[in-house]
Amino acid sequence: MRGKFIIGNWKMNYSLDESIVFIQELLKIEYLKDVQRTIQIGIAPSYPFLDILKKMCKNAVLIIAQNIHHHDSGSYTGEVSAKMIKSIDIDMVILGHSERKEKFYETDDILLKKILQALKYDIKCIFCVGETLLQRNNNNHFNIIKDQLQNTIFHLSSKEVQSVIIAYEPIWAIGSGTLPQESQIQKMHYYIRNLFLKQYGSLIASNINIIYGGSLNSSNAKKILSQQDIDGGLIGNASLIIHEFINIINHCIKLSK
Ligand code: PGA
Repeated sequence: MRGKFIIGNWKMNYSLDESIVFIQELLKIEYLKDVQRTIQIGIAPSYPFLDILKKMCKNAVLIIAQNIHHHDSGSYTGEVSAKMIKSIDIDMVILGHSERKEKFYETDDILLKKILQALKYDIKCIFCVGETLLQRNNNNHFNIIKDQLQNTIFHLSSKEVQSVIIAYEPIWAIGSGTLPQESQIQKMHYYIRNLFLKQYGSLIASNINIIYGGSLNSSNAKKILSQQDIDGGLIGNASLIIHEFINIINHCIKLSK
């Protein structure tokens, strides 16, 4: 059976002190270790805090990078490589987030290089795909997601793709408080799973984790996370508020019982 993932993407928020206080609160949840086999809880903080938070969490909470560069090393001022994050035991990274595409001009070509770079260091990828509101209104959203996967993930071998989690994040739902109905999200996740079925066969399709992101919070988590093909969430704003994040985890735990 596929496990579930509840991942907080902190983006460019929280200082060191604020990050530590949050993680201390999270680690107080006694059942965290017990649920680990079925639910993986993760936080993606800013680069400077990866090491210290990883040491705090040991393996109770996944500590995840928000990005990597597609080269090992070199003259790339301000960049951080897969090799560097692996050297501090970080083994998961978010790639393809729409904010990176929009604000930092990351293309599918660059993203494929980043994915391959992560896999070279045995780092799992949470790979984001999503459409704009215009694309959805034009009923083009399924094609857009298919293209995004074909240009990137579908270049991977059957073995490599097992190190990938897909995050379906409609761009218009990110940080907006407006999101698709749970049935529409389920429909897209089912569609994505079917694309994996055609590309890689039934075993990989049934095992690939497809999580949802975009204005997920404790009020809508139950409806969304109870859908058959939704294997968890990638959470921005609500992951910055400890009780919100814990409530989402609790919904996920109740649903998986
Ligand atoms: P949001 O962000 O939960 O604030 O919409 C999600 C994301 O960007 O991953």
